[in-house]
Amino acid sequence: MKKIAVLTSGGDAPGMNAAIRAVVRSSLHYNMKTYGVMDGYKGLVEDNIFELDRNHVTRIINRGGTVLGSARYPEFMEKNVQKTAADNLKKRGIEGLVVIGGDGSFKGALALSQFGIKTMGIPATIDNDIASTDYTIGFFTALDTAVSSIDKLRDTSFSHQRCSVVEVMGRHCGDLALYAGIAIGSEFIITPETGFDHDLTIKEVKASFDRKKRHAIVVVTEKMTDVNQLAKDIEKATGHDTRATVLGHVQRGGTPQAFDRVLATEMAERAVELLHLGSKQHIIALKGKEIIHIPTEEALAMKKETPAKRYGLVGQLRN
Ligand code: F6P
Repeated sequence: MKKIAVLTSGGDAPGMNAAIRAVVRSSLHYNMKTYGVMDGYKGLVEDNIFELDRNHVTRIINRGGTVLGSARYPEFMEKNVQKTAADNLKKRGIEGLVVIGGDGSFKGALALSQFGIKTMGIPATIDNDIASTDYTIGFFTALDTAVSSIDKLRDTSFSHQRCSVVEVMGRHCGDLALYAGIAIGSEFIITPETGFDHDLTIKEVKASFDRKKRHAIVVVTEKMTDVNQLAKDIEKATGHDTRATVLGHVQRGGTPQAFDRVLATEMAERAVELLHLGSKQHIIALKGKEIIHIPTEEALAMKKETPAKRYGLVGQLRN
């Protein structure tokens, strides 16, 4: 293989730039040219593709976001749109594509491989919701952002003897809330995996104030409940002022922390090596300490499992 392309797709994640850099630098190692695609699959269809050399990726390893831009592009489900994208690669003699993103982006990669393009998926999303890998690029940076924000909330919550209800991102996955909840010693977490029990939440917060704690923190995965309403209900039931905070997109930005950069670099190196060897379509993953690769269809069929014991920890250590 002489030419490959790289794109970032879906919600951006800290560490995507480190992956792009490693794709370019590894390709040079194998004497392959790399092309960058702007704004994910949208740019691929609109032919927004340009050659990347080593200088394009200088000093991006530490930058948040993605220098290639990203987009959500549901139009890519259509066969004729996929064909246009594949044709845009083929006319330049590009045979392989590295897709940095989440499961949705990998479905696009699978579709493209049916048009003869070899594709490698690198899991990057703050949600850590990809079943085939232990951790995704960006998760730990977002977690650090959530934790440092909640630490700040705790300072003021303690001073005023308040309860803080904090909404974090995660889409359908509770990992950000779970890990943040453990890391800040929250009273209660509400995630898609735990479900939302309104009365139990209030009971636990009340019990914690009854134990003479000066503050309480409830961490909630987005979309689980209306956090402003929950704050009002907690305030009414406990008599303690309660404030809701939605952390929002601040969790997606910022300098990637070291582990995300290392993970991104190792995964990208593997993706490029596999393209160089002529592999057809795989998802790169972290299993334990190993970087592995799994056929895309198999990876997409996997179901995510978070150890139940980790959820137990929050309740067990509440006192
Ligand atoms: O997938 C990353 C993520 O930040 C989710 O946590 C969140 O649900 C979603 O993207 C938000 O998407 P958007 O930035 O398109 O509003």
